[in-house]
Amino acid sequence: MMRWVAAAVVVVVSGCKGMSPDPLPRDTYGPTAETGDTDPVVIDETWLALPAPATVDNGRFATADTCGECHSNHSTAMAMRDASGNEVGPYDLWEASMMANAARDPIWRAVVSVEVAETPGAADLIGERCMSCHAPMGATDAELTGEAKPRYPSGLTDGSDRATLGLDGASCTLCHQIEPDNLGQPSSWKGGYIVEGAQKAYGPHPNPNTTYMAAEGWTPMQSSHVQTAELCATCHTLITDALEPDGTLNGGSLVEQAPYLELKNSSNATSTCQDCHFPKRGIDQSNIVTPIARSPAGSDYGDLTSRTLSRHELVGGNTLVPQLFRDHHDILQPRAAPEAFDEKIARARQQLQTNTATVALENIDVSGATLSFRTYADTVAGHKFPTGIPLRRAWLRVRVWDGTNQVIFASGEHDSQGRILDSGGAPLASELAGGPIAPNLNAISDPDQVQIYEAVMKDLAGDPTYRLLRGAGWLKDNRILPRGWDPNNVNIDLIRPQGVEGDTDYTNEGDRLSWSIDITGRPAPYIIEATLLYQPLGNRWAEEIFAVETNETKALRAMLQTADRRPEIIATITGSHGGN
Ligand code: HEC
Ligand code: HEC
Ligand code: HEC
Ligand code: HEC
Ligand code: HEC
Repeated sequence: MMRWVAAAVVVVVSGCKGMSPDPLPRDTYGPTAETGDTDPVVIDETWLALPAPATVDNGRFATADTCGECHSNHSTAMAMRDASGNEVGPYDLWEASMMANAARDPIWRAVVSVEVAETPGAADLIGERCMSCHAPMGATDAELTGEAKPRYPSGLTDGSDRATLGLDGASCTLCHQIEPDNLGQPSSWKGGYIVEGAQKAYGPHPNPNTTYMAAEGWTPMQSSHVQTAELCATCHTLITDALEPDGTLNGGSLVEQAPYLELKNSSNATSTCQDCHFPKRGIDQSNIVTPIARSPAGSDYGDLTSRTLSRHELVGGNTLVPQLFRDHHDILQPRAAPEAFDEKIARARQQLQTNTATVALENIDVSGATLSFRTYADTVAGHKFPTGIPLRRAWLRVRVWDGTNQVIFASGEHDSQGRILDSGGAPLASELAGGPIAPNLNAISDPDQVQIYEAVMKDLAGDPTYRLLRGAGWLKDNRILPRGWDPNNVNIDLIRPQGVEGDTDYTNEGDRLSWSIDITGRPAPYIIEATLLYQPLGNRWAEEIFAVETNETKALRAMLQTADRRPEIIATITGSHGGN
């Protein structure tokens, strides 16, 4: 039945034990067979070719290197270092973030190309919509001058100043120019931020020294709205309107991403996104009190007071796309050097392993020939885990060994490509394009059952869909809820879990699941290992993208063949029964 044998030593590790700079091993044992996409594809560079970053400062927006002249680290300046001396310059931390690379992101481009291919009549509309948050400076610049909005992909590739601004992603002069006017109101969501392009740079500090920035045409100004969650909610609250294949709106709509609304319906409601995503301490938890700028020549300005500085980490859970930027640097041409992406992957992994979610084992018992126990998965992320776009998923892998170290049960195993396997070692049917949806489960006794925490969209007819612009609701959303979740919250219709009816222990204190394992003829003691895994691009989603062949999907598929797509280990725990 099982094709692999456990290693003799079971390592006990668990999440949330404080900061550990060394990543846990991503996998210790299990199947390693290369069973899938093995025909190597050579990437034709023209499929994804984009111009390299260039400099624009057009009096409304500036590319980040303009700001980086003073807000980045320099070997001969002491500014922008934490108490341990580590560099924390905003430009340096931002440039390898997903937000900086939102318009160069090959997964984003593949998905945009698929949406366009499925609804060609709305190609211009789709391009404009998708660029408004992923290439926001280009889109907003056109809006300010009353010109036609940039389209996909010409609005990134035509070499214009506007394309250069678009390619700079969610950049300094977008975030720092957002006005407070409509923040917190639904009109600010869906990319409804108000930006005037008047060269103000709002920041959190009182009485900023304006002399040096004035020389470049910019004015730093204090305003507390930059420190609010409502600033982030502008782009991070995404409500899409569903389209028919002919491009007409069909009346359906979907709250595709809602970390802000989720946070507001949690016991962290008064926390801000910045509390966790712009850390106020160094990676070793040291204080950060430092001058926040240095001169373009690389020396310290003598007249600046030291201030608190928040690290522009902007790290979520994406450990896959940074690999693609690192490994296909010459094609994707991000600003940041390849090593900077390794640093981001390390930061994301650290967050995933120490501050994201936990798993526990409860009520381990043997009755007759049945070993029973419960797993308990919970999150501390403030919003759902996983949150954001429904490409992400988490799942439980549970393994049980008997007294002779034989694996007697395993659910949720994966192969080296991150595909979830059944007990025979083949991908689950729900891993493949067009396959069934893995339902939310409350009890597992069969190793072919796997508990996957994910959101799956449905179209207007109620069928599952993997096209963002066909989405009219959810078939399944059993993502783990944050503490304090109120089923009667004012916005509950926008964020309600789906497909969990009857699962009474799916609550605002996490999800419990009952396991029953047949131990007939198997000697004690029994060792149980439960692991919570996370994947930024679920295999099912990838397969659904590849089902539509475009230049972008061909390139992405080729890139993923050489990427490490194994899931991240969020937390793992072992327990036993019948030992001494
Ligand atoms: C209102 C702002 C907004 C708009 C409009 C928008 N996005 Fe996004 N998109 C985001 C945010 C924020 C994220 C990050 C979410 C996360 O990490 O979970 C994101 C992430 C993505 C990702 C995941 C990328 C990755 O690296 O995994 C894809 C794919 C994507 N968007 C596609 C689209 C498409 C296609 C459109 C147009 C139909 C679009 N987006 C329009 C805000 C937006
Ligand atoms: C996602 C939006 C966003 C982007 C993009 C962004 N910032 Fe910030 N920035 C912030 C926020 C929020 C704060 C205040 C953080 C806090 O105090 O919680 C901040 C603070 C600052 C500060 C004051 C020092 C501090 O940390 O308090 C400087 C200087 C700064 N940013 C420069 C930049 C530069 C330069 C870039 C581009 C390389 C950039 N920022 C990109 C949101 C952003
Ligand atoms: C020539 C150097 C220089 C350049 C270029 C520069 N800055 Fe500044 N910036 C400064 C100085 C100096 C301060 C004030 C520091 C202080 O008072 O502690 C500052 C302050 C800030 C603040 C904090 C404001 C506050 O009140 O909290 C933000 C935000 C900021 N800059 C953003 C930017 C952005 C965005 C750009 C690019 C358009 C930029 N800066 C370009 C030197 C520069
Ligand atoms: C102008 C639009 C915009 C604003 C404003 C914005 N974001 Fe984002 N953010 C994005 C987009 C687009 C992405 C997805 C990029 C991608 O995956 O291609 C993203 C991704 C992220 C991610 C995911 C990174 C990862 O590793 O998966 C985090 C975390 C994040 N943003 C935090 C913030 C915070 C905190 C704020 C407010 C201070 C903020 N964002 C404001 C557009 C925005
Ligand atoms: C209490 C800490 C905390 C707060 C507050 C918080 N986050 Fe997060 N966030 C996390 C953690 C931990 C992760 C990684 C786990 C995950 O991906 O869900 C994360 C991940 C993300 C991601 C990437 C999700 C994915 O899987 O693609 C986005 C986007 C994001 N956060 C946006 C926000 C926004 C916007 C806010 C404010 C409305 C916010 N977060 C508030 C801790 C926090």
